[in-house]
Amino acid sequence: MPETVQRGIDEAARAIAEAQTLIITSGAGMGVDSGLPDFRGPQGFWKAYPMYENLGLGFTDAANPLHFRQDPPFGWGFYGHRTELYRRTIPHQGFELLRHWISSRGLEAFVVTSNVDGQFQKAGFDESRILEVHGSIHHLQCTAPCEERIWPNEEDFQIDLKSMRSRTLPHCRCGLVARPNILMFADSSWVSGRTDTQQRRLEAFIEGQRGARQVVLEMGAGTSVPTIRWMSEQLSKVSSSSLVRINPRENEVPPGQIRLPLRALDALDRIDRAMARL
Ligand SMILES: NC(=O)c1ccc[n+]([C@@H]2O[C@H](COP(=O)([O-])OP(=O)(O)OC[C@H]3O[C@@H](n4cnc5c(N)ncnc54)[C@H](O)[C@@H]3O)[C@@H](O)[C@H]2O)c1
Ligand SMILES: [Zn+2]
Repeated sequence: MPETVQRGIDEAARAIAEAQTLIITSGAGMGVDSGLPDFRGPQGFWKAYPMYENLGLGFTDAANPLHFRQDPPFGWGFYGHRTELYRRTIPHQGFELLRHWISSRGLEAFVVTSNVDGQFQKAGFDESRILEVHGSIHHLQCTAPCEERIWPNEEDFQIDLKSMRSRTLPHCRCGLVARPNILMFADSSWVSGRTDTQQRRLEAFIEGQRGARQVVLEMGAGTSVPTIRWMSEQLSKVSSSSLVRINPRENEVPPGQIRLPLRALDALDRIDRAMARL
């Protein structure tokens, strides 16, 4: 490993060892070491979903709420497939390392993620300390919506992989088809209530942690939808705060912050070993 990377690992380990507060921010790259695809550019999306390449559709076309009105089985083809994939995925060991740091060091922690896959909850993170900025695939809402209600996604999906159509569909109690409670592209019907509540919890958390030594640990957040990168930078602007950005490719950081050009699991594992040496 190049010396500069090892220096970054040591700096990150020291910052976490001295921290009182840990804010974990993550994008699709956090799931890659659990075997999940990210959607880096059209090529990345088509590699994960070759059937959409045949149909000439990119991520922004597949993730469009229009399908749930015009062709619900097609809308659920993409999201039903992902629901089943995320349900059977086991979060990688890095999630466990993070939980171990939090409990063994008595850190106050909060997770902010653009992922809709529920992997932090699955790994045992406290539900009341998670903000899912783009919503969750494990929750449903009405397509209209007829009301602001959000409820658990308990549908079993079977997808015809040739046509990318779902054979089953969940429904709202008004009779309309339900859709995932996820903020899609060109989406004016997303019900934001659940995410708004999570956002208020984050604001109260930040207020309560004022003056504490803080680390913002970002993993796998891309530049195509830069919400998480922007949030990490904003959150780490307060004094006594460091930003550690883990990303094998898009890893530029503001001056003075720590950049780790590594995969998430590898970086967490190395930081863990470096902390043990301190
Ligand atoms: N699992 C999910 O819930 C999921 C999956 C794909 C996309 N999305 C959503 O799509 C939108 C675009 O997502 P994005 O910008 O996060 O993703 P992206 O697919 O555009 O980028 C992923 C980022 O992760 C990095 N990466 C790849 N492998 C990694 C690894 N092993 N460790 C660490 N980093 C790695 C890439 O270099 C890239 O910067 C977001 O809203 C995102 O939430 C969600
Ligand atoms: Zn309804």
